[in-house]
Amino acid sequence: MDTSVILGIETSCDETAAAVVTGDGRLLSNVVASQAELHARYGGVVPEVASRRHLELVSPVVRDALEQADVPLDGVDTVAVTQGPGLVGALLVGISAAKAIAWARRLPLVPVDHLQGHVASLYLGDEPVEPPFLCLLASGGHTLLIAVRAHGDREILGTTLDDAAGEAFDKGARLLGLGYPGGAAIDRLARQGDASAHDFPVARVPGLDFSFSGLKTALYYTVRELTPTELDGRRADLAASYQHAIVRALVDRTREAAARTKLEKIAVVGGVAANSGLRAALSDAAFAPLELCTDNAAMIASAARFSRPLQYPRYLALDAYASLS
Ligand code: KG4
Ligand code: ZN
Repeated sequence: MDTSVILGIETSCDETAAAVVTGDGRLLSNVVASQAELHARYGGVVPEVASRRHLELVSPVVRDALEQADVPLDGVDTVAVTQGPGLVGALLVGISAAKAIAWARRLPLVPVDHLQGHVASLYLGDEPVEPPFLCLLASGGHTLLIAVRAHGDREILGTTLDDAAGEAFDKGARLLGLGYPGGAAIDRLARQGDASAHDFPVARVPGLDFSFSGLKTALYYTVRELTPTELDGRRADLAASYQHAIVRALVDRTREAAARTKLEKIAVVGGVAANSGLRAALSDAAFAPLELCTDNAAMIASAARFSRPLQYPRYLALDAYASLS
């Protein structure tokens, strides 16, 4: 049993999060302060607003996570923090907090890639998934198919050429007047609608890549022809049909990738993994625990278990990165 204590910090987008995980993968606390409401009035995340809010929230959120885990600050053995990809100003708030905590106690620090973090959400919970597996990562910022052959042995097989799957959900929700972020709202409304009411096409691009921007345009043209009253009457059918098209695209490509790589186990992570239509369509796949699908710091601490830490004080010059490395 590895009872060492890892404090994870995540501030890559609009969630300020901290969590405590043990070296053997027990989740002791998981605190997420979402800024979604703050950004809703702008219809999307405003980077500068996000950075400022992270600055206000990071200390209380870390304190909360330690309190809930019943671990004093001096009981932390390793600090893990998201290094990228994400909004640089937002990432720097988490990185600075992590450096300060680690440096003051001469602790090691693990910089974690946000996408590896999403994958590592599978290693927590009651039924942890172990490699090898094929991972579909579908979030607001990314859509990736990754062959995870072992911890530390990953190959990206496909990605989106334009919008991410979560972004397609959010843009669709906006066109349907459902607010931001809209994935969960489409999911709820789709349950009352008829998925065969509208036939939305999904682009088939070569290889194992995805493309969702045409789908959003198709919804735009459909909605444009409707009066407000007609839209009210058809909103649930439109949500169901739109969701169906996204899910079908994700499932088709994932099955193709599984066949090509001969990876028998399929696992799904990221915010879109919370979607009930996707969960039903890939019923044989493993899904990240629901509370660990959207951004959180537990997955960051979880990933740190499989990465080499930087020893004090080598991490002081550590910088954030904005895009997929
Ligand atoms: O992983 P995540 O929290 O952030 C990124 O790293 O991007 O994912 C957020 C995305 C948003 O686009 C949100 O609309 C979507 O996940 N999402 C959903 C659902 N819950 C969250 N999409 C579809 N159905 C859901 N139930
Ligand atoms: Zn994410």
